[in-house]
Amino acid sequence: MSTADAVTGYSVAASAVSLNGLRKIYGDVVAVENVDLEVRAGEIHALLGENGAGKTTLMRLLYGLTKPDAGSISIDGATVSITSPKIARAAGIGMVTQHFSLVKTMTVTENLALQDAGFFSLDLAGARRKLLALCEEIGLEIDPDARIDSLPVAMQQRVEILKALAGGCKVLILDEPTAVLGPQDVDSLLDVIRRLRDTIGLSVILITHKMHEISQVADRVSVLRRGEIVATENASGMSIASLTALMVEGVQQEIVETGERSSQGTSVLAIKDLTVHLRGHDVISELSLEVRRGEIVGIAGVSGNGQSELVQALSGVFVHQTGEIHVDGKLVKGGSPSAFAEAGFGRLGEDRHASAVSALTVEENLILDRLHFFSKPGILLKRKIRKFAEESITNFAIKAKPDQAIGTLSGGNMQKVLLARLFGERPLAAVVSQPTRGLDVVSTRYVRQLLMVERNTGVGILLVSEDLDEILELSDRILVIFKGKIVGEVARKDFDRIAIGAMMAGV
Ligand SMILES: Nc1ncnc2c1ncn2[C@@H]1O[C@H](COP(=O)(O)OP(=O)(O)O)[C@@H](O)[C@H]1O
Ligand SMILES: [Mg+2]
Repeated sequence: MSTADAVTGYSVAASAVSLNGLRKIYGDVVAVENVDLEVRAGEIHALLGENGAGKTTLMRLLYGLTKPDAGSISIDGATVSITSPKIARAAGIGMVTQHFSLVKTMTVTENLALQDAGFFSLDLAGARRKLLALCEEIGLEIDPDARIDSLPVAMQQRVEILKALAGGCKVLILDEPTAVLGPQDVDSLLDVIRRLRDTIGLSVILITHKMHEISQVADRVSVLRRGEIVATENASGMSIASLTALMVEGVQQEIVETGERSSQGTSVLAIKDLTVHLRGHDVISELSLEVRRGEIVGIAGVSGNGQSELVQALSGVFVHQTGEIHVDGKLVKGGSPSAFAEAGFGRLGEDRHASAVSALTVEENLILDRLHFFSKPGILLKRKIRKFAEESITNFAIKAKPDQAIGTLSGGNMQKVLLARLFGERPLAAVVSQPTRGLDVVSTRYVRQLLMVERNTGVGILLVSEDLDEILELSDRILVIFKGKIVGEVARKDFDRIAIGAMMAGV
């Protein structure tokens, strides 16, 4: 420890973290294996890797959220046993996880005060002073008295960062901080990170799988693949192509385009003036859109702008839902999932764990929505079910046995079961939500190709995804959703990241 700033309590001491031979095993999964990693004082160190590479697990080890099976951590050259986040914070490690930990009904100041105090000893005046001094020092603006739930996501994230800094952190871990942000907010966050390095010499570990973020801010980059560090390099020396190669190791990434991109077909899904009233306001407001035969229409938007509710409304679940939904030109009457299924509409929900019944087998999950087809009064047609399951397993390249419990499958295989269930019914139209979230690169590629194939056979697909790259890659048309309204439409020939990003931010 050396000099600490008298006002903020923030230590300006140079400090480095080193991880030595860390390992973490979950059941059969080696999440982190023999990781050596040094983070230098005052550097922005990007941690790059595909979904499932082990980035979060590695950082959870450093922040004391989970215990390593082997290895050690040293800070300022001394080995520290980090068995809880509290100990991590005391050692100068801060972390902003993918799920924020702020108390939404409290103000910024109250949230900061909460972390250093027992419940009965909130020092609000002190916390407010500390916050203002810190903001001044690093050139950030925030209203100390704003309630968290009144702040946009980007600002809430800033509060999380300030909270970590107020707690005295010298090494700040940010776990995919840009995943929840639109492009403009990404730029300002990267600015903030840079400023923190330059003004107070903060070390930042930035987890990302976005290459352009690395070239924008990182000093060094470590690439994690299947739990192991495969390279640590100066970021300036790394091209996007070489980073990608390190990250995915010979996996081909481009989508093979089959079929023409034209969408002149008839309307298979039409939403007219949909309004959904929830939590005291309209989360969807007079939204209309159309998906034609053989077309993928992507819904682009920053998370929380009505996407989830739009998907749910397409099974008519909301009590306060008005407007009309037509499938194949016919009004779907009776708002229930089965009314939609009967009309020829399929869905892949955003949470595959909620869509699969984990206690049931792969084949039971496959036929769940269509029991009538596989049963006679009182009996299940077991041979027919098994045959169907085996065909699905082959057709969708599912690595599983028909009688295996679905809960034991990897994310990618579980997603394939759900897609087999969806497209096995030959729907005319479907909504597919976050289809590759959390999947590894191979499964992601498979799922995206599958969606293209289904589109080419004529299914009209409404694709809802927070991954703008996915939307750009797959869509024939993009609709931008903002605060529950469609605020823009862009045809494939006019796709432009920046312009779409601006619309996503409501500009
Ligand atoms: N709590 C857990 N229980 C079981 N497996 C886990 C757990 N956390 C992570 N894993 C597994 O460890 C691997 C690495 O996951 P994670 O660290 O979340 O990767 P990343 O953050 O790079 O996407 C994955 O295969 C994941 O399924
Ligand atoms: Mg992660």
